[in-house]
Amino acid sequence: MRGIVLAGGTGSRLYPMTASVTKQLLPIYDKPMIYYPIATLMLAGIRDILLITTPKDVERYVDLLGNGARWGMNIQYAMQVRPDGIAQAFLIGDNFLGEQPSALILGDNLFFGSGLSQRLANAATLTLGAHIFACRVDDPERYGVVELDAEQRPLSIIEKPRHPASNWAVTGLYFYDGAASRLARELRPSPRGELEISDLNSVYLAQGTLTVERLGRGYAWLDTGTPETLMAASQFVCALETRQGIKIACLEEIALAQGFITADNFARIAAAAPVSAYGRYLKALLADLEIDARPTPLRVAAG
Ligand code: G1P
Repeated sequence: MRGIVLAGGTGSRLYPMTASVTKQLLPIYDKPMIYYPIATLMLAGIRDILLITTPKDVERYVDLLGNGARWGMNIQYAMQVRPDGIAQAFLIGDNFLGEQPSALILGDNLFFGSGLSQRLANAATLTLGAHIFACRVDDPERYGVVELDAEQRPLSIIEKPRHPASNWAVTGLYFYDGAASRLARELRPSPRGELEISDLNSVYLAQGTLTVERLGRGYAWLDTGTPETLMAASQFVCALETRQGIKIACLEEIALAQGFITADNFARIAAAAPVSAYGRYLKALLADLEIDARPTPLRVAAG
């Protein structure tokens, strides 16, 4: 499966923070926002990623992520010249995807929760239809909203409804079979002038091949489009990382755990890491690895 991260847009709701820095490179606590969606795709087992951004911002992403080899990945870049909607990602990513299944994630969406990796890995086995995630929110009119029947089957998906049929918002993480680009080509712009991802999802719904998975209690889904939500996401990550001494979305750690890089690769990266909290975390992980790799002391082996 291949992945697309959509990091276009002007970030106008975050002006003037976004006047010279693109939104998805702003920090969420201790790392750039874009690390979080990339980590989500990595946890799904995806190594081939197309990052879609604007011509103005692409160089900044290349500075940060390069070709992804550092994490055992292959990151390519493409441009969204005008923000014409999320589903446009499948027109831009047409050649990259070919007929392969894909996962699309929005560059400002942050997911966290126990068992998430397993759920993502399951979703990434999809070969037919589409699979999306829904989260309960207090303000569904800001999102795509899915109505579910008693068996959790989707009945409708409406983008930013004035009168939402439920509190279940569709999150910015979508899994599709190899037909997504072909189906996206048949979409027409919505009244707000965008190729809507909710319209693509509705095509799969009409075909009877859309499944919806609810992320209930125990999961955090945060978007970061306003100063308040940006701050809330930073506070959330800070609180968890500080309390538990673990990092969320540490790409080197995930790359090692997923087998994308070897322990030797990891050791080289950690040893060269700058002295920041993130760098110290890598060095601490390396120290743990070295302890694990030490030959068992004779005394213990004999005992
Ligand atoms: C987009 C989608 C919407 C989805 C949301 C998730 O909204 O159109 O269906 O619920 O992302 O973040 P937008 O960010 O364009 O307002």
